[in-house]
Amino acid sequence: AETGPGSDSLTGRRIVISAGGTREALDPVRFLGNRSSGKQGIALAKAAHAAGAEVELVAANIDSGLLSDLPAGITITPVESTLELQTAMHASQPAADALIMAAAVADFRPAETTGSKMKKTGDDGLTLRLVQNPDILRGLVDERVGAQIIVGFAAETGDAQSTALDYARAKFARKGVDLLVFNDVSNDRAFGHDHTAVQIIGSADGQTTIGEEFQGSKDDVSQKVIAALTEQLTDLES
Ligand code: CTP
Ligand code: CA
Repeated sequence: AETGPGSDSLTGRRIVISAGGTREALDPVRFLGNRSSGKQGIALAKAAHAAGAEVELVAANIDSGLLSDLPAGITITPVESTLELQTAMHASQPAADALIMAAAVADFRPAETTGSKMKKTGDDGLTLRLVQNPDILRGLVDERVGAQIIVGFAAETGDAQSTALDYARAKFARKGVDLLVFNDVSNDRAFGHDHTAVQIIGSADGQTTIGEEFQGSKDDVSQKVIAALTEQLTDLES
């Protein structure tokens, strides 16, 4: 059955996709991390590969069982920390036609990492000092090569000030990306689950465009995202 972009719509294109969640070391055995499974990024990699693209998956701490499910031909670059992810993305940027940041990136990392295991001293608690990580997506936009398409993800919740969609719209404007895949997680719909609901934010003729809410599996959502990305790449040519 025809489920998404044509099977050769991305032939000859290089797509770099980050996935999973970064880990920030405290010492040789401990880290600060997040619950991102990497399933969305894996689904994107499969969809891009099925559309004929040459795909690199920059995989931050993804379970090897999930990675072994990937079709041969997808290059996997394993990373752990945000700084490693940043280095990998920038190394691959020059040759890429599109970059997708689907990874959950730690906003902060410990100011110090100790080379040996941290020890308790006395009966006191512990205060950790964190420093802010670089915004990888922002850096990729700043160093955009030619007509590269850059895609971000945003999982948002609404609060007393703004709706989740308003936060996503503001993030789209702030990040300078071509597409932002917005995911409303107010009702805890995303992490580790197979189903998700997204709206794709982009722009046309200088105006921000907000796609209809699309619900489906992470595979279905990936088809949508790859189709939107393909359209942008094709628009650039015409
Ligand atoms: N991202 C990134 N580098 C970071 C943080 C986030 O590249 N240090 C990317 C994510 O991979 C995602 C997008 O930016 O594609 C949005 O992530 P999000 O955490 O929603 O954005 P932040 O700028 O960190 O804003 P917030 O304060 O809402 O977390
Ligand atoms: Ca963040």
